[in-house]
Amino acid sequence: MQEASLTIGDRTVTLPITVGSEGEMAIDISNLRKETGFTTFDRGFGNTAETKSAITFIDGEKGILRYRGYPIEQLAENADFLEVAWLLSSGELPTRPQLETFTEEITSHSLVREDMKHLFEAFPHAAHPMQILASEVSAMASYYPDALNPNDEEAVRISTTRLISKVITMAAWSYKYRVHQPYVYPRNDLDYSSRFLHMMFSVPAEEYEPDPVISNALNTLFILHADHEQNCSASTVRIVGSGQANLFSSIASGIHALSGPLHGGANQSVVEMLTEMVEQPGDVGHWVERAKDKDDPFRLMGFGHRVYRNFDPRAMIIKKVAQDVLDMLGLDDPLLDMAMELEKIVLDDEYFVSRKLYPNVDFYSGVIYRAMGFPTDMFTVLFAIGRMPGWIAQWNEMHRDPTTRIGRPRQIYTGETERNYPGIDGS
Ligand code: CMC
Repeated sequence: MQEASLTIGDRTVTLPITVGSEGEMAIDISNLRKETGFTTFDRGFGNTAETKSAITFIDGEKGILRYRGYPIEQLAENADFLEVAWLLSSGELPTRPQLETFTEEITSHSLVREDMKHLFEAFPHAAHPMQILASEVSAMASYYPDALNPNDEEAVRISTTRLISKVITMAAWSYKYRVHQPYVYPRNDLDYSSRFLHMMFSVPAEEYEPDPVISNALNTLFILHADHEQNCSASTVRIVGSGQANLFSSIASGIHALSGPLHGGANQSVVEMLTEMVEQPGDVGHWVERAKDKDDPFRLMGFGHRVYRNFDPRAMIIKKVAQDVLDMLGLDDPLLDMAMELEKIVLDDEYFVSRKLYPNVDFYSGVIYRAMGFPTDMFTVLFAIGRMPGWIAQWNEMHRDPTTRIGRPRQIYTGETERNYPGIDGS
């Protein structure tokens, strides 16, 4: 099938069909308005492919997620996060020497400019670390004015290195500021995840040695979050970048998009919900009933996904990592027990089964972050660290594509039709 035909009234137009490498088919409506005067209406872009992309493949019906063709299960089990960052950007896995050079480069940029520290201090101590992180990333555009041209390959390369490298320093410092502790400088003898853990949990009075169990689990979690094709924040990064905004500004917009509770902020909301369930013991079914009640705004956080109509493969891996980490640390978390009980009830409930609402990536990630010692409001920041290479890869792909146009959706205007201005005293 090469084309589709659409009949509107007595007119029939033919529309080309685009087929992806995994057999996904799309009707190309780029010329529809020009040819017919009609536009299309699609709330939340549920049925609209805005771009062609070779980065991440998801089959939501089968529960498949692959980065550049590699199954998420294999990468989560075997790869290093920076290896995955390279893969997402370049399209191929790095060779060992390439990975070593890339890792050295990322490591050597770990310091944040000393004067940027004052920016943290401009925030109230109660500020959410996601807001601080977004502002710091946005400010990077002012600190590196020579590296802003989106069409300059070397500028983009160095900005990419700085973002992946410094995001963990800025994230840890946003937490340190919050808890009134001195900032801890990056230790470049540590690997990426351990360096972050050290900056988070070390204090001058007491050295902290990152536990390899926790570092490895964090490496896996970063990989699981590294990209997820055209989600809310990646689309934001692309649309901001399509106006030729620099990489820092585009990524800062992505961080803001991620912060919402229906997107990355869900991991924080899940733990808050589970805590409430544990603190108010009783029938878990009561919460499930509330989630089903259309007159009650309550939703079961961590369930449902726009694309997955089956298990989110990331949730399955995280559930296992959570169990392993808790076992290895000898911890018993009532929140994990509650999560498993809730999952069991939901997977048997007709409302959730018929709507294909399964646990998503955020359902178990909060439980594991808690076990690692992270405070609740850092959970979404951890998501942002993991997603950084994905956002950058999406931004680059958009820029390198010669067919990219500025993102600018249409609307169906439903307001007043023309009327005359009566003057301030007119009636
Ligand atoms: N609890 C109860 N009902 C739900 C839930 C839920 N968590 N999620 C969806 N539904 C119902 C919804 O009310 C609707 O029912 P009906 O057909 O009777 O009107 C149906 O399921 C379809 O839902 P939708 O809102 O049209 O689905 P969507 O694709 O627009 O939204 C979602 C996807 C993830 C925003 C939504 O499922 C949700 O709010 N989940 C809870 C928040 C959450 O866990 N977000 C993290 C998403 S995964 C990570 C990420 O993207 O960052």
